[in-house]
Amino acid sequence: MHNTLKKSLVLGSVTVLLLVVFNAWSSGSHSEVDLSPLNQRLEGKVQKAVSDSHDIPCHVKKDVAWRLAQNTCECVADKETFRLPFSNLLFPRVWAHNLDLAFLGSHPDPDDVKRHRAQEYSGFQRRSYSSADLLIVAEANSPLQYPTQGVVVRPLKTIIIPGLGLKEETRPNHTVHLEATLGTFDVAATVDRVSVKGEGENHIILSSPRLSALNRQLQFVTYTNTVFHPKTADTVKFATEGHQSFFTIRVEHGTVPKLYNSGYQKEYNISALVTIATKTFLRYDKLRDLIASIRQYYPTVAIVVADDSEHPEPVRGPHIEHYIMPFGKGWFAGRNLAVSQVTTKYVLWVDDDFIFTANTKLEKMVDILEKTTLDMVGGAVREVTGYTATYRHTISVDEGGEDGDCLHMRNGYHHFIKGFPNCVVADAVINFFMGRTDKVQQVGFNPRLARAAHLEFFIDALGSLHIGSCSDVVVGHASKIKLPWTETDAQKAYDKFRYSSTSDDTYTRNENFYFKNRFKCMTSH
Ligand SMILES: *[C@@H]1O[C@H](CO)[C@@H](O)[C@H](O)[C@H]1NC(C)=O
Ligand SMILES: *[C@@H]1O[C@H](CO)[C@@H](O)[C@H](O)[C@H]1NC(C)=O
Repeated sequence: MHNTLKKSLVLGSVTVLLLVVFNAWSSGSHSEVDLSPLNQRLEGKVQKAVSDSHDIPCHVKKDVAWRLAQNTCECVADKETFRLPFSNLLFPRVWAHNLDLAFLGSHPDPDDVKRHRAQEYSGFQRRSYSSADLLIVAEANSPLQYPTQGVVVRPLKTIIIPGLGLKEETRPNHTVHLEATLGTFDVAATVDRVSVKGEGENHIILSSPRLSALNRQLQFVTYTNTVFHPKTADTVKFATEGHQSFFTIRVEHGTVPKLYNSGYQKEYNISALVTIATKTFLRYDKLRDLIASIRQYYPTVAIVVADDSEHPEPVRGPHIEHYIMPFGKGWFAGRNLAVSQVTTKYVLWVDDDFIFTANTKLEKMVDILEKTTLDMVGGAVREVTGYTATYRHTISVDEGGEDGDCLHMRNGYHHFIKGFPNCVVADAVINFFMGRTDKVQQVGFNPRLARAAHLEFFIDALGSLHIGSCSDVVVGHASKIKLPWTETDAQKAYDKFRYSSTSDDTYTRNENFYFKNRFKCMTSH
């Protein structure tokens, strides 16, 4: 079997090459997925089959083995195989950035940082562990019937445990036990000819000479949570002679919703639903052009401006909030401040050098957010040259053990969205996006990232934001390319500040990935 596996891995590598070539052409799957909330409520039972018959021969499936072999945390870049003009455009190579080397190499006491990171991580694991994560398999042929998932109790409250039962041959005395650690059992009603011992305790025994009476009694068994520790779970042991089973009862508060009262709407009222947020630094001419272009299409939509210029200039007008920050606080700090002041259901992020046009239809973004489970949707940015970018990426993380995990970013997306032919689902999108305000605030922008930073937000959002990207909502981008002799003094100062990468910035970025996100490596196109 070992040989078969090896062979399949070699074959796998050939497939990898073919797929890289294939991906370069297709850059994303063309399957379509229905994201409307109703269709997502598929209630299915997952059956896990376990077999201990190791001596029965088995056959490795190559495509599956290849997928398993892909899930390794190794910091390797694609090798350059051939060089043609534009080969990077057609077959983008994957680069790899070894954070172990990049961050620890420049640190005076690498062992100390490693220790500290390990310590913080074990604290994080302790905080996020739940016994509901434990894999429990319901053995076949057990006479016990019980819920495998989905039993929830509010902290310190009582529920009736659904689904308990015993199915066995008639015998003189039928008995079951229930044991818990964070709560106690009782019965909400008693049934004749059933004896109950241990009511109000964490171990209860029910027995009866009549199986039907015992099963009736089992319908009334209650569980009361007695240890206050929300967001955890109690593992309950349910047993009869010769058989035992385990199931979990989740102990948690319900999620308190955060709803926005935007008024009744027959059609989308953008001013009631959306706030436009931006951050500026020195570029007041650009900012004024942006505001003028917004006002042409959305005269009453609120605009929030975070500004960390050294000598702030007034930015006035109806429905404009201008927040002055300490000089040079930076890019993500400004995003954080601007987003924190938004009170509408949605926030639209724009850079201060964008220009609204007739194609900047915010209604389309609101529409997809209202009709799907997406939390955020990105648009497209059109450069002065006519080139339009959507900047879609997929992100994944592979576990890498003690040294940290591997972060993989690729150009592309996951699938199309049913009913929205110009939209796809991705993990990261361009600088022009609309999101549910509370969800964007939850993820937040790490204020330590002062200069160029963008994907860092989406890495933090992985697993908590469901993100789309639509190519038919387009904003214009004022030209970045300027001839040096036509640059204004403000432009020169801006370029100096924004694009000069000091070793300090590099250190902070590497630290963000190495320590905060606990990666050892990142790979990307
Ligand atoms: C049945 O068995 C249980 C546990 O072994 C015992 O406590 C109970 O008294 C028995 N009941 C009868 C009627 O024998
Ligand atoms: C749209 O919302 C704004 C702000 O809440 C409100 O002032 C305006 O009257 C609304 N317009 C319509 C047509 O409902």
